[in-house]
Amino acid sequence: MVLEENVSLRPYNTFGLDVQARYFARFASADELRQLLRRPEVQHAEKLILGGGSNLLFTQDFNGVVLKNEIRGLEISSEDGETGTALVRAGAGESWHGLVEYALDQGLSGIENLSLIPGTVGAAPLQNIGAYGAELRDTFDHLEAVAIGTGELRVFTAGECGFGYRESVFKNTLKNQFVVTAVVLCLHRQAQPNVRYGAISETLAELGIEGEPTPHDVSRAVVHIRRSKLPDPAEVGNAGSFFKNPELSQAKFDHLKSQYPDLPGYPVPGGVKVPAAWLIERAGWKGLRRGPGAGTHGVHDRQALVLVHHGGASGHDLRQLAEEIIASVRQQFAVELHPEVNIL
Ligand code: FAD
Ligand code: EPU
Repeated sequence: MVLEENVSLRPYNTFGLDVQARYFARFASADELRQLLRRPEVQHAEKLILGGGSNLLFTQDFNGVVLKNEIRGLEISSEDGETGTALVRAGAGESWHGLVEYALDQGLSGIENLSLIPGTVGAAPLQNIGAYGAELRDTFDHLEAVAIGTGELRVFTAGECGFGYRESVFKNTLKNQFVVTAVVLCLHRQAQPNVRYGAISETLAELGIEGEPTPHDVSRAVVHIRRSKLPDPAEVGNAGSFFKNPELSQAKFDHLKSQYPDLPGYPVPGGVKVPAAWLIERAGWKGLRRGPGAGTHGVHDRQALVLVHHGGASGHDLRQLAEEIIASVRQQFAVELHPEVNIL
């Protein structure tokens, strides 16, 4: 494996920010990864495991080694006729949406609600990706990971991953300690469409799909909704939701609701989750463009939770904007927003 020096990361992050990596290498198997981890330049340097770069904000050059995951492979590893389930094993460098399409082609359901989420399979467990009424953990069976310190392979069951809302142990207690090399999901032979999320049924009706929808139909509806409000990183730099949706205590929510009767809220264990997009829009940020000319960066005009890079801004500019948004939401609503994007 070639260890390249001084490589631009612009093609490797969906914000399209032009920062440099001191070293850059790709690995296509767990063995190649181990060989790289043993090289002296890699062993002693700071390491960044890179998937599709769709949840990263680079605010400066990366003065260590970027290791790009290119482990491929999609297969049905076993099938259980009695439970009607199949285990699907995916190499961590496969595209997530590619895995969704593979499952649909194999007649397996369970991840169609997670259609079109950018990035790789290996990053999906890091924040337990979620959308439109489903999360990775709903179908997750186990993952395989290589320990950065020893090169040993370890299997993590769902219970060991500590999944929560946009959370896992790999972002907390085990941060930067493991490289996910494969993910195994447990999918269903029998379609079990999940249309709990209101917008899906509305969109199915809009698309003229009547009766019980197939997994393909649900996927089509989700793709349709996502395209209508989320910017395509190929056109406008972004990393999806920049912040997590905050979870408030019932008392705090009731207090805010008395001041802002149209504040939306969804019950969660121990409180109420409110859309950060609503708070950001109410604080006046939606559609903002900042910087010379028509603006280099700002807040998406169709989804206030998405920060956008039109070109010509730096990661520092975007972080500065994020900090101002956090401060204004804190001042107006006394609610603390936390970034979902990994800031480097
Ligand atoms: P990267 O950005 O490359 O990495 C993210 C983090 O994971 C980094 O800390 C990295 O070091 C670590 N990492 C990556 N791969 C590995 C590995 N193999 N082993 C160990 N650590 C690793 N997310 C959602 O949950 N729901 C959505 O609906 C959603 N919509 C989005 C829409 C858009 C338009 C965009 C741009 C992003 C969206 N995201 C969404 C965020 C993003 O797609 C996910 O977080 C995705 O899982 C990131 O994958 P990636 O391969 O690009 O990870
Ligand atoms: N809203 C506004 N203004 C906006 C946009 C939304 O007020 O500009 C309010 C509306 O009340 C709307 C509500 O926010 O009903 C929710 O909006 P939306 O359905 O677009 O979802 P979200 O809460 O903003 C979350 C995830 C997304 C995921 C969608 C769909 C987080 C941080 N974000 O967004 O995930 O795709 O739900 O399930 O949980 C991501 O993580 O990168 C991501 C895109």
